[in-house]
Amino acid sequence: MRIDILSCVPQLLESPFSHSILLRAIEKRLLQLHLHNIRDYSLDKHKKVDDYAYGGGAGMVLSVEPIARCITHLQAHTTYDELIYMAPDGEPLTQQLANYLSMKDNILILCGHYKGVDERVRQRWMTRAISIGDYVLSGGELAAAVLVDALVRLIPGVLSDAMSALTDSFQEGLVAPPVYTRPAVYEGMHVPDILLSGNKAAIATWEQEAALCATRDRRPALYAAWQQKHGGKEHELGSNNPQKKECL
Ligand code: ADE
Repeated sequence: MRIDILSCVPQLLESPFSHSILLRAIEKRLLQLHLHNIRDYSLDKHKKVDDYAYGGGAGMVLSVEPIARCITHLQAHTTYDELIYMAPDGEPLTQQLANYLSMKDNILILCGHYKGVDERVRQRWMTRAISIGDYVLSGGELAAAVLVDALVRLIPGVLSDAMSALTDSFQEGLVAPPVYTRPAVYEGMHVPDILLSGNKAAIATWEQEAALCATRDRRPALYAAWQQKHGGKEHELGSNNPQKKECL
């Protein structure tokens, strides 16, 4: 997958792509990441990329021209499946959307800054806008890093254990079950016996039930949606779970 990210502060994106899974994806050539500084496409002698908003009000707006030049330059050799603007008013980023985008070959991401981007950029070039939550960040860069992380880990071969992205939270409309590692007992707190049993089938049943419990207790709205989808029945939680009522 090729991802081009346009920003007026691309330095903000250097660290997320210099470590861990995203770096590994680049090293394995499963991700081709290109960061572009919009300032490089400004014709202004001070490399200005923003201006005052028409109609007044506080905050600067990213101008159409440098962004247009950058996109036109890139589109001369790449056909993008999606051109995404990171914005708080975009469609919410979900696992489903990440799954869908992870199957694309070429994605362009535009990061807003200051008050946002001239609306004509969105109208002319962007195929969608994505938000990572109902709060306002200083710019789209951190949101873009979140988006890229969410979808790159889904590209086959990026994660070493092929199963681990499939068992992530939200893949089945549930959060993931709790996980434990050594020691088996810490200050009187025990890892559930079943996980030490080596009985794969029993562990799988426990994990399914623990995922339901965790979703019910930690994300009630998600649990309600899951129940609706699975016949609207109240599930009998705890019957297979050694920790019964408390569930987790
Ligand atoms: N830019 C500023 N805030 C944002 C948000 N919540 N999501 C995506 N991009 C943003």
